[in-house]
Amino acid sequence: MNKILIIGDIMGRPGRLALSQVLPLWKTEYQPDVVIGNVENLTHGKGIIARHIEDLNAIGFDVYTSGNHVFDSGPRAEECFEKFHNIVRPANYLTLDDSFSSPPFQGGVAGGQGGHVPGQGFYRFSKNNQQYLVINFGGQVFFDKQYRGTIGNPFFAFDEIYNQEAQKDDIIIVDLHAEATSEKNAFAWHVDGRATIMYGTHTHIPTADTKILPKGLAFQTDIGMTGAKDSVLGVKPESSLAPYLETGKFKLEIPEEGPAIANALLVELEGNKVIKMERLQQEVDI
Ligand SMILES: [Fe+2]
Repeated sequence: MNKILIIGDIMGRPGRLALSQVLPLWKTEYQPDVVIGNVENLTHGKGIIARHIEDLNAIGFDVYTSGNHVFDSGPRAEECFEKFHNIVRPANYLTLDDSFSSPPFQGGVAGGQGGHVPGQGFYRFSKNNQQYLVINFGGQVFFDKQYRGTIGNPFFAFDEIYNQEAQKDDIIIVDLHAEATSEKNAFAWHVDGRATIMYGTHTHIPTADTKILPKGLAFQTDIGMTGAKDSVLGVKPESSLAPYLETGKFKLEIPEEGPAIANALLVELEGNKVIKMERLQQEVDI
């Protein structure tokens, strides 16, 4: 028996604090072999810094996926990709414009219009005599204003990485960081029979469609976030409401305290065959 615990978008401080309480409980109760989390929103909703990745490492994460916001922490995000090889970003992010990052990338390492994208799109590791291949993709639908760079076709990108990197008996785990339920569902049917687990992140809302597809793929459209409960996708309601009620820019304000909620997906396998899936949800005060 092999158990994989997957946490969706970890949203800022409330998300980190919630997991510091909930993950030890879940580890005791379910004893997962591998723990995965999406960290694109880890540091105040915008990117990653090394200290926060170290905090997650300390509570028992094995690997991290990400998405469109991961580069918002600028050089500190790039430092994380250099320091921690267990973080991946969408493999089909082909270019990154430095104008999107705040503060901007320094020294032109990732900079310039259509600049190089830091990090890798997949991560291979072995634990308890089992090999894992974790791959991250980004969706293209409704993403024109969400990522300043070029996003390649995730379907073709999967085919390429699968053909080049997958090995016999791998457990292949795919995070498609995408907005549209249609794109995530179509992608699931594209990878069924090749990937082992495929799930969506980015919308921060868990979907009630946990299922195993005919060729054995464990699938859920979106796992949902871990972050402030009384919020709009982890953001203070008043700052999320502002752009709907008045003109002006959206302000990203994250609650400092109050109830938080953790959402996750637990998948049980025999070898690399999926046996059972379960959605987990736990509320805590932070
Ligand atoms: Fe996202």
